[in-house]
Amino acid sequence: MKPLARRTDALTQSDIRAITKMVNAVQGINLGQGICDLPTPEPIKIGAQHAIADNHSIYTNYAGIEPLRTAILEKTRAYNHIPAANDAEVMVSVGSTGAFVASIFALLEPGDEVILFEPFYGYHRNLLGLVGVDIKYISTQPPDWSIDFDALEQAITPKTKALVVTTPNNPTGKVWSRAELERLLVLMQHHDLYAITDEIYEYMLYDGHEHVSLASLPDAYARTITLSGFSKTYNMTGWRLGYAVARSPIIDKMGLLNDLFYICAPAPLQYGVAEAFAMAETYFEEMMVAYDAKRTLMCETLERIGFDVWWPQGAYYVLASFEPLARTRSGFDEAAMASRTLVQEAGVATVPGHSFFSDPERGRYFLRFCYAKEMPVLEKACQQLIAAFG
Ligand SMILES: Cc1ncc(COP(=O)(O)O)c(C=O)c1O
Repeated sequence: MKPLARRTDALTQSDIRAITKMVNAVQGINLGQGICDLPTPEPIKIGAQHAIADNHSIYTNYAGIEPLRTAILEKTRAYNHIPAANDAEVMVSVGSTGAFVASIFALLEPGDEVILFEPFYGYHRNLLGLVGVDIKYISTQPPDWSIDFDALEQAITPKTKALVVTTPNNPTGKVWSRAELERLLVLMQHHDLYAITDEIYEYMLYDGHEHVSLASLPDAYARTITLSGFSKTYNMTGWRLGYAVARSPIIDKMGLLNDLFYICAPAPLQYGVAEAFAMAETYFEEMMVAYDAKRTLMCETLERIGFDVWWPQGAYYVLASFEPLARTRSGFDEAAMASRTLVQEAGVATVPGHSFFSDPERGRYFLRFCYAKEMPVLEKACQQLIAAFG
């Protein structure tokens, strides 16, 4: 038979899913996949139940229902300080991933160059690959995953069209500072570049780190697409609701693509999630306090069993190095082996570091742990790690 489309050649099942299968087989605890097992807030669930009962079952506007777009607009102005003019600059999509797909199809063409900071979020790399762009990787370095701006400037060529910034970052937890974003913006203006910013973890911050949206900086909004969503903040990854905020004409083209790809986000669930905006502000504070305690438990456990740990500034992952263990123990030669060792000996799943690097060798000694778990589950996972390796 004729071959399948070449654009699928490089796609394989993500390591995350394979490790998930392995840990399920031993009924272990999955600290690999970036899913949160906490419940979705009641007002959101009740809102969706009412919308289903009221037969909100037909296609909505391709960019989302008006009350939801208005609420997102207000949040974007108040929390992100982005100067969005009206709700035509807001597009609801099928997760922030749906909005990312629309943004790269709207902006990029085969042969364009795009800057991606690594370690990166795999979906960004793979989706950029699908549109046929050349990705230029700029590495960020522990302990604070800082940016080498000289290397960045050198990587920019006349073909460079856009950068992808994830803050707070998955997998490193890096939160881009205002000063870093200001430096980035100078380069964007000088070289006429767009930015796509993935801010899905914008409410998960530690140690006083501030979330700054690139689009809130003076004159940045016109060349920035801001992505966020509900999956992580409200524990609803499976509902598939996210959004983009950008100025015309970018958002108009993205809307046409969103319509073409998905028609609209799930109608009754849009009504449900609109209820999130009526929840008390204390929701975010309580969430942050809870994640901070989980971060402490996770990081202290990893330090205790011999990992090098750079405590995340935001989000709910820690990318830790087992290089010290590799020198003293068997089963830790490289990331895939170390990940298997953790499943077999401690019943804990993680993601091998090579998933986050263009050159797998650079991820050789890293594992990513996701601590978005109910506290008793996380405690059990940490006890199992200490029992096996402490
Ligand atoms: C950086 C980042 N962006 C986007 C997503 C997916 O978001 P959504 O569920 O809104 O599509 C994830 C999920 O792990 C993520 O880590």
